[in-house]
Amino acid sequence: MQRTEVTTKETIKYRFPQDFWWGSAASATQTEGAANEGGKGKNIWDYWYEQEPNRFFNGVGPEKTSRFYETYQEDIRLMKELGHNSFRMSISWSRMFPEGKGALNQEGADFYNKVIDEMIAAGIEPFVNLYHFDMPLAMQEIGGWENREVVDHFVSYAETCFRLFGDRVKKWFTHNEPIVPVEGGYLYNFHYPEIVDFRKAVQVAYHELLSNAKAIEAYRKLGGDGQIGIVLNLTPSYPRSQHPQDVKASEIADAFFNKSFLDPAVKGEFPPLLVDILREYDYLPKMEQGDVETIKNNTVDLIGVNYYQPRRVKAKEYLPHPDAPFMPERFFDNYEMPGRKMNRHRGWEIYEKGIYDILINLKDNYDNIECFISENGMGVEGEEKFRDENGMIQDDYRIEFIREHLKWMHKAIQEGSNVKGYHLWTFMDNWSWTNAYKNRYGFVSVNLDQNAERTIKKSGYWFKSVTENNGF
Ligand code: BG6
Repeated sequence: MQRTEVTTKETIKYRFPQDFWWGSAASATQTEGAANEGGKGKNIWDYWYEQEPNRFFNGVGPEKTSRFYETYQEDIRLMKELGHNSFRMSISWSRMFPEGKGALNQEGADFYNKVIDEMIAAGIEPFVNLYHFDMPLAMQEIGGWENREVVDHFVSYAETCFRLFGDRVKKWFTHNEPIVPVEGGYLYNFHYPEIVDFRKAVQVAYHELLSNAKAIEAYRKLGGDGQIGIVLNLTPSYPRSQHPQDVKASEIADAFFNKSFLDPAVKGEFPPLLVDILREYDYLPKMEQGDVETIKNNTVDLIGVNYYQPRRVKAKEYLPHPDAPFMPERFFDNYEMPGRKMNRHRGWEIYEKGIYDILINLKDNYDNIECFISENGMGVEGEEKFRDENGMIQDDYRIEFIREHLKWMHKAIQEGSNVKGYHLWTFMDNWSWTNAYKNRYGFVSVNLDQNAERTIKKSGYWFKSVTENNGF
């Protein structure tokens, strides 16, 4: 493997606080591979791919992905080489419990024990997330998050993880982007079970929230001495204009997609605007006695913020058809701002200041809760064309993307934000759900034609210098 150091001789203009968490994030299904090995049970992705391989870019499924299951030692060595002091992984529920409940798969537990030990030995703190879109198939067969019983099975699984790994893992996350399974699975058809049903979507969201609170409760009952939080994709909702109807549209979008999880997770309360809408249209979820207290009393210690793109909205141009299915878009239209900067590969706007706006919002309106950027990154198609004669991908666009976001983060820190770190999505190129290997996000490239060979990209070396200097 060719390695060319990227040296920065610039004086450090943006210095970050001491012990800043520098690293990256990934998830089990997207990296491990070995989907049918080591006693793992099927999850919804394994199943969906069997049923509809055409839904996945180039027909590539989750069975092998980036092979972390086999290569974790080498990968962790590379993380260390890139200056990581922390890394967020997720545990695959169906690797721990092939049926989602019942007997523990000891091979699965052994694997995570080895990974955690290896990271700690390399000086990399494991941040561990329990749910990253990967419902065990057996649990989906009884309704997944639609079914309250699944909440209890999730909590039992979480407890097992706390017991087995909690002596070494001190940063836990219950969910990654819990709004996404709601959007993908129950509203917009990009995750299994491909249902479009607002009532079910609300119930799914509610059960995810309940599972978050109950897992936190369990962690504390077990005497967990670390921190436990949730990772949310906080997507600022910017109105097209300051016209009251545009502003109102943006407030409603914010209530649906941000406050829906942020308020209960941090404040233990539901956002009144959202509750009013759900009540008015008769979509409040089924709740049981005691739930409100459980959510109130079990809020998070810290928040992971995933930020990729802003949401821009405007007042509705046309009234929705009275017979149209009920969707959040009944209250706003999405707005394409002229002249916006785009990552055309992913179709996402790049708006670096969004990261600052999120952090200042957390500071001003959420008691400046401890947080970190748990994902941010740029997926690019066809990166092989940027490989130079020494074999290195010259991803200057990614360096610029990260640098510009870090500048805004730095400004937020100077203004008092309690942000403790920055993790890129992602460490090495991985499998992106239905997009499979279309867009590459990693500091490290993975060559699927060459036995998943890893090579560090230019951005990886650049990041190393940032971590070494604690700034740039
Ligand atoms: C986040 C997820 O939504 O964005 C990741 O936590 C995901 O799992 C990442 O891979 C990038 O999105 P995508 O759809 O391009 O993979």
